[in-house]
Amino acid sequence: MKERSKKRTIGIVVDILMYGLLLTQMLYVFTGNNIHEILGMAFMLCTVTHIVLKRKWIAAVLKRENKPSKARRFSEIIIVLLLLAILALALSSMGVSRFLFPWFTYISSPALHRYLATAVLTLGVIHGGMHGYFRAKKKKKVVVLIVLGAIAALAIGLALVPYLNRHFKTVKVEYSTMVTGRKIDWKGGTTKLVYFTRMGNTDFEADVDAVSGASLLLADGKLMGSNELLADMITDAIGCEQIPITLTGQKYSSSYSSTVVEAGKELREQARPGILPVDVSDCESVILVLPLWWGSIPMPVATFLEQSDLSGKKLYVVVTQGSAGYGSTIEDIRKLVPDTEVIPVTSIYCDDIPYVREKIADLLEQAAK
Ligand SMILES: Cc1cc2nc3c(=O)[nH]c(=O)nc-3n(C[C@H](O)[C@H](O)[C@H](O)COP(=O)(O)O)c2cc1C
Repeated sequence: MKERSKKRTIGIVVDILMYGLLLTQMLYVFTGNNIHEILGMAFMLCTVTHIVLKRKWIAAVLKRENKPSKARRFSEIIIVLLLLAILALALSSMGVSRFLFPWFTYISSPALHRYLATAVLTLGVIHGGMHGYFRAKKKKKVVVLIVLGAIAALAIGLALVPYLNRHFKTVKVEYSTMVTGRKIDWKGGTTKLVYFTRMGNTDFEADVDAVSGASLLLADGKLMGSNELLADMITDAIGCEQIPITLTGQKYSSSYSSTVVEAGKELREQARPGILPVDVSDCESVILVLPLWWGSIPMPVATFLEQSDLSGKKLYVVVTQGSAGYGSTIEDIRKLVPDTEVIPVTSIYCDDIPYVREKIADLLEQAAK
């Protein structure tokens, strides 16, 4: 009897740990990469312990001959889906790992990793809720709680995590390791790289710590835009000239949230903010590096496209984003420069930017073959 209650206590502790770890894992932006990976390992260990502790129950279900109730069947389907999702999550964790499994280079999609983590959290909530359902007398109340819990879990994974990432992230990188690498034989003719970034078009306080609600990149202690870092990588790979798109009038707010609101207003009004001249008349192609803003192009980029004569040139487009791929950037650019061949090169998830030096060189090489 004592043995049984000891096992039960261990089981409860492991279960609480698993939920706690999963929620903490969602706070990647605060824990940083290495702690995130170590806690991920702890979660996987807890999962194995959980399965071992439940082995007798699993064996009984597998041997069962009589037909289970609908609720039991539903609960078992959720368990199978949860196990599959955890397995896929484990593989995708290795794929995106930079600390514990840097040698594992398959399924290295951060977006897939986040979706799988969301699936595990949601299925985990339903799985836990079903335990309550079987014990409860007022079943309807528990069903409502399970549905609300599942919606909350989905909202955390799909909306809260990207929100936290974009608003509170400060990534510290070593500039030369990130930027320098293989030089490519660029087949795109004479080229200039034009980029837009929030940094440089925003008045940041000198003291970075004083900047509230900003998603920042610190390269060797210097504040940089993600797209600026990417532009430097491409310039290093191709050896071309680079020109930033620089606002001449009002800059964006140092607060990330306010910038999002300001950019949304500009997009709705199809504003064309004033920019310093960008001369691309003397080149055959242009590489445009830009962030996705509100699923489209930032309006200063629209100003650049309208002010420059790009007809007959090739325009290679590299987009960075917080989860939404190219959005409508390619169509929007094509509308603004109908006589230009617009070539999508890649859309990079913002967290990956510091680590794409070799990949971007390969992709540009392929795009200009
Ligand atoms: C005003 C604004 C709007 C944004 N809108 C989106 C969006 O609609 N979809 C998305 O995936 N990312 C969005 N992002 C995230 C940026 O595309 C991403 O963080 C980018 O890498 C920032 O580059 P930068 O630091 O060089 O400015 C937005 C960022 C800002 C500042």
